Amino acid sequence: MKILAIETSCDETSLSLLLEEKNLSETVFTVLGDITQTQIDMHREFGGVFPTVAKREHQNSLVPILMKLCDFTVDEIPTTLDNEKINTIKQILDREQPLQELFVQHLLNKSNPGITHICVTSGPGLEPALWVGISFARALGVLWDIPVIPVNHMEGHILSVLAPEKNIPADTHSFTVTDTSLSFPTLALLVSGGHTELVLVHGIGDYKIIGKTVDDAIGEAFDKVARVLGLPYPGGPEISKLAKLYHDNILVQSSPISGTGTISAGNLFPRPMIHNGNYQFSFSGLKTAVLYYVRNLLQGRTDQVLTDTEKQYIAYEFQEAAIDVIIKKTLRAMNEYGIQTIVVGGGVAANTHLRTELVNHVHTKNPPCRVLFPTRELSTDNSLMIGLAGYYKISRDPEKKYETITADGNWELS
Ligand code: KG4
Ligand code: ZN
Repeated sequence: MKILAIETSCDETSLSLLLEEKNLSETVFTVLGDITQTQIDMHREFGGVFPTVAKREHQNSLVPILMKLCDFTVDEIPTTLDNEKINTIKQILDREQPLQELFVQHLLNKSNPGITHICVTSGPGLEPALWVGISFARALGVLWDIPVIPVNHMEGHILSVLAPEKNIPADTHSFTVTDTSLSFPTLALLVSGGHTELVLVHGIGDYKIIGKTVDDAIGEAFDKVARVLGLPYPGGPEISKLAKLYHDNILVQSSPISGTGTISAGNLFPRPMIHNGNYQFSFSGLKTAVLYYVRNLLQGRTDQVLTDTEKQYIAYEFQEAAIDVIIKKTLRAMNEYGIQTIVVGGGVAANTHLRTELVNHVHTKNPPCRVLFPTRELSTDNSLMIGLAGYYKISRDPEKKYETITADGNWELS
């Protein structure tokens, strides 16, 4: 199989080409190309992802990225395309005008560079953004007469751990997935801007959510707290940086906030739902606690500005509280379900504190259990994980045809 994978669920436009070769118990994947174009700079002024801007950027970026990714040969239009096909393609792209124009101008005369399947994220995510990727995938499917497979973005995050660190800077690289790469049941901790979930993975494609957030996702909480502290979007990496600065100084200084006395050792903020017997999460109260704490601190200050040290302290305390809840619940699920492999996926998986603390706790409590994180590149949204999830979906049901593909902003794993 040679898979073109497309990801446009949020603020990254990402395309990759993945070649798969199966022999006996192992599958060799060769990444022939992998391009992710982030829109973060465009959204920063809004303090978060602005759906109209995301849609426009995807519409403008997909064709140029595909051109960069593929080694196209050019055919004459009349010998390869009839008018009916052209009309179908135009119709599919009717609601994506800029994309339709670019597609007609650049792609109608391009031969398929050997792609056998197109895999596209069709949920969960921002529906206007998802539709751009889906329409593009469907139009290419018609152009080249190849199947289009809808892929769940969260399944992509789970399987992103299968692709190891690139150890060469070249564009093309290979990795092998064997039957023992994951041991089932695997526990997946999904922590992103839109999701906080614990998922039991009984096999690739067989998922059961055992708990999720009842309000904000953890990444959303990082982003909102960052805004309260006056830090740019996305807030996760910013909070993480400040927390580390505070942590690195914590042993040599007492608490910098006047009136708090000694170092609070990360207990300033509440850990919502940490003692509940279930696997549900809540981050909205923690975010509000930070907000009130900041308001209190600023009371009576004419400049209404936090000092750098105060920002570091609050970032540290918030991160301690948020990660503490995540780790406690993950450990409890590990014990209850006899888990020997934990995978972590989603943007917050890039967080250094989460990485080190989870590994330390698991290794203390259950040494044989493996904890797998995606590379930092593959923690945030990317199309390589969509290609991987798509490959396994095709393998499970090779003959299945997906006649209609629709965007489902809330598509849940099951
Ligand atoms: O998976 P992702 O790229 O997009 C969604 O599907 O939501 O996750 C983005 C989220 C953002 O909320 C961002 O602040 C957070 O991941 N994030 C981090 C870090 N890097 C990204 N959160 C904490 N620490 C980080 N280092
Ligand atoms: Zn994501």
